[in-house]
Amino acid sequence: MKAGTMNVESGIGIITIDSPPVNALSVGVRRALDESFKKFAADESVNAIVLICAGRTFFAGADISEFGKPMEEPNLQAVNDIMENGQKPVIAAIHGTALGGGYELALMCHYRIAVPSAKVGLPEVKLGLLPGGGGTQRLPRIVGAAAALNIIVGGDPVPAAKALELGMIDALAEEGCLLRDAIAFAHNILNENKPLARVRDRQDKVDPDKGNAELFADFRRKNARAMRGFKAPENIIKAIEAAVELPFDKGITREAELFHELVYSPESAAQRHYFFAERETAKVPDLPRTTPPIDVKTAGVIGAGTMGGGIAMNFLNAGIPVTLVEMSQEALDRGIGVIRKNYENTAKKGRMTAEQVEQRMTLIRPALGIDALGDADLVIEAVFEEMAIKKDVFGKLDAICKSGAILASNTSFLDIDEIAGVTARPESVLGLHFFSPANVMRLLEVVRGAKTSPEVIATAMKFAKTIGKVPVLARVCHGFIANRVMGCYMDQADAIILEGTSPAAVDKAIYDYGFAMGPFQMTDLVGLDVLGRGSNARTVRGDLVSHDRLGQKKNGGFYDYDENRKPTPSTIAATIIADVARFKGIENRGEQTSEEIIARLLYAVINEGAKVLGEGIAIRASDIDVACILGYNWPVYTGGPMFWADSVGLPRILAKLKDLEAVYGQAFRPARLLEEKANTGGSFARG
Ligand code: 3HC
Ligand code: NAI
Repeated sequence: MKAGTMNVESGIGIITIDSPPVNALSVGVRRALDESFKKFAADESVNAIVLICAGRTFFAGADISEFGKPMEEPNLQAVNDIMENGQKPVIAAIHGTALGGGYELALMCHYRIAVPSAKVGLPEVKLGLLPGGGGTQRLPRIVGAAAALNIIVGGDPVPAAKALELGMIDALAEEGCLLRDAIAFAHNILNENKPLARVRDRQDKVDPDKGNAELFADFRRKNARAMRGFKAPENIIKAIEAAVELPFDKGITREAELFHELVYSPESAAQRHYFFAERETAKVPDLPRTTPPIDVKTAGVIGAGTMGGGIAMNFLNAGIPVTLVEMSQEALDRGIGVIRKNYENTAKKGRMTAEQVEQRMTLIRPALGIDALGDADLVIEAVFEEMAIKKDVFGKLDAICKSGAILASNTSFLDIDEIAGVTARPESVLGLHFFSPANVMRLLEVVRGAKTSPEVIATAMKFAKTIGKVPVLARVCHGFIANRVMGCYMDQADAIILEGTSPAAVDKAIYDYGFAMGPFQMTDLVGLDVLGRGSNARTVRGDLVSHDRLGQKKNGGFYDYDENRKPTPSTIAATIIADVARFKGIENRGEQTSEEIIARLLYAVINEGAKVLGEGIAIRASDIDVACILGYNWPVYTGGPMFWADSVGLPRILAKLKDLEAVYGQAFRPARLLEEKANTGGSFARG
């Protein structure tokens, strides 16, 4: 058997599957399962069977790369039939993560035992799918429909202790002694003559909700916002309704239909693209895998403002002590106060204990003056966005930091090479560009300067994971990846309203596309004074600021707001927009359609993305997708701008860009790479 081994110990048959890296249920693994269960079923010396995996985890689910292709036999259902309907008890022995098809396989077993560090769950929703191996029918039979809705629509893994409480597993094994304890568990079942517990036969948890349509209606209502635009959650709800209302076999048929609808949907294709894209970002072609990372045990952050505070929290959360440097005691106290308040709010919501708050706070060492950073392994500068100030800071860091320390800037736009140039160690300098709020947003752009050493890049890429970020590597340019490509979107939003389209029409088109909000609602939320700083030319934003229309905080910006922050289109803003347009001599083209607005704002992003790729700023198109999805909340079920461009069709995008160029000029000149791909049948995803 290629993907595993079989052996028998004191009457217990042990099937050990070993298919690195994560024991996904590929055709090879399914064959191994099929073969070994058949053999043990026929082997009279075997009284019970333990199913366990080698390597870092129990089965991580179906092999995602097989989706969308014809399924090779045997399928999971065939394996299930031998296991679940067999006469010998089967015990799943779980370590690592039993996810998706992996946990569904465990649910087909008669019993489940796991080590305390294990997690189980059905995360298919994150791939735009539903658990298609019976999970939507079996889980509600264990935990009830209400809990199953939360677990399957939420998709988050459940830690072993909680899983035990919910009945998702039957017993905990001692950490490190899984096989021993699973065998003992099997003997126990045999000795006590316990029945073959088939989850499919249980009705006690689902029967009470028969006819309870309100349960599902209420779930839909409460989660409408989070589920908007995604296809899978609705199908999952329908499948769980079927688990409650239909006999098991009919429920399984319904699950299969609902799964089928999803597996060929563009949303799922996009979310599967994203799954692999997120894992691909860490791979740097010119960086040998063996490049030794530098140990980061202590960190320093300069500037305790909006970004510095959030950046520091990432380190504290990972248990890494941080020295936080400010210019004045007042700024330092304010910054530390904000960090404390953030933690206390988390504690109030029950997601942290008061003790954990204090533990994190004790890891901060407040300091006035950069001299306190002499011992730090990694320093991140988050001071004002001005080259002169950054250079001053890096000059000082060069003088006091220990040799080998990594010196990073959180600059949004400035030239990392110019900053590195004031030090005698440009190989140690790079950009670490966090997104606001820095303790929440998962994107970290790692900006490699011309001289940044491989070790420093390798450290940043690895370290990002330690602090829960997804690293995307960029080269130096104005705005790097996310800010540069999404800057085009903001520019076009600003331009189109001067030509007669209302901010509300722009926001609606973008919202309907799938963003949580449009550019003007976003600007009003963040504050026009924050986003509009630094511009000398006359702009709508500048004029709004001079009318004290700073956004929601002043009850007015692009919109007017009532006391419940409900926006309504503003006549004052409309007058200001018309004034600025007249001042600039911009022709009024009237309100544009949603389709036109989408092309104008989002094709501009695709075009800039193609330039970023063509210039080698981003390594691969999917990195641009990840940057936009994680940095700007681009809707994941479109796959990001570059994947979406492929789905729309590059020739169509090229033709539209040419039309736009004819009207608006230079800003829409098609990128060479886009033109090449469109003309030769290429795509961003396939290269
Ligand atoms: N199929 C194919 N490849 C997979 C995979 C899967 N289910 N899960 C992980 N991989 C690959 C990754 O792409 C990566 O490949 P690479 O090394 O070439 O980049 C490698 O395995 C290691 O993955 P990670 O870097 O993510 O490893 P971690 O140790 O950080 O995490 C994990 C392990 C928690 C298991 C994580 O990989 C994960 O969440 N996997 C997906 C789990 C999932 O969504 N399962 C449901 C699948 S759908 C399904 O089962 C449908 C069923 O209902 C019919
Ligand atoms: P901020 O104005 O909120 O904070 C900057 C802090 O740096 C202030 O508290 C200031 O007192 C302190 N400071 C200035 N000079 C200093 C010095 N020499 N030594 C010690 N402290 C000093 O600014 P914000 O928004 O946090 O931005 C910081 C950096 O992060 C900028 O480079 C910005 O471009 C970048 N950035 C900002 C994002 C945002 O959304 N605000 C997003 C991503 C990056």
